[in-house]
Amino acid sequence: MSILTLKSVRYRYSSRYHNVEALKDVNCEFEQGRIYAIVGKSGSGKSTLLSLMAGLDLPSEGDVLFSGKSTRTMDLDAYRRNNVAVIYQNFRLFPMLTAVENVMYPMELHGIRPKEAKKRAEEYIRSVDLPDSVFNRFPSMLSGGEQQRVAIARALAMETNLMLADEPTGNLDSTTARNIIDLLARLAHERNYCIIMVTHDTELLDMIDVTYQMKDGVLVKV
Ligand SMILES: Nc1ncnc2c1ncn2[C@@H]1O[C@H](COP(=O)(O)OP(=O)(O)O)[C@@H](O)[C@H]1O
Ligand SMILES: [Mg+2]
Repeated sequence: MSILTLKSVRYRYSSRYHNVEALKDVNCEFEQGRIYAIVGKSGSGKSTLLSLMAGLDLPSEGDVLFSGKSTRTMDLDAYRRNNVAVIYQNFRLFPMLTAVENVMYPMELHGIRPKEAKKRAEEYIRSVDLPDSVFNRFPSMLSGGEQQRVAIARALAMETNLMLADEPTGNLDSTTARNIIDLLARLAHERNYCIIMVTHDTELLDMIDVTYQMKDGVLVKV
């Protein structure tokens, strides 16, 4: 079964002055063990779609199903806390916490004791190909590529199989970007994650299993 399914998803932004039909009829399935890309012009609805998949909002019509269950019938706070990890373009690490403390954070929210969380955090940091020397460094002491690896380690520490990424390579040079996508693809293939990434970096699509284009509020396979 697919981990995430979108069924006839529509989304409208409504205000007193205008209505924008951002998503018109999105149907799609995402499976574990694969990395997906969603591409499309600015304003085509990519961020809107990601926010529905991340449980930040509900569709105006249709359903987003996680493991067959609609986000409509879920506690969305619990869904965001337990089931979906999000990686951002600007990393969004906590500046006052070290790399290890950043990665410990989701585990501490889940009630894992600090000693155990620290041990797992160190393993997650090693698993994104960072050396032990970054453990106690603050984000400001890390390069952009290193910060994004720590952010990926923190996403792994959510201990869910679904990872969403909004332009994860947008702030990185092309070599570093390629290394990050290579890492994400390996996580999908070797550790059975479902990784869905929004990007406009078409140079990196050769490493992606399935690419969709968002066009006028509809997703089409490329
Ligand atoms: N908060 C909002 N209020 C009204 N319209 C919005 C809002 N956010 C996005 N939109 C509109 O919805 C459409 C899709 O936007 P978005 O999902 O941000 O596209 P993308 O991420 O592909 O650039 C655009 O027409 C945009 O102007
Ligand atoms: Mg966007």
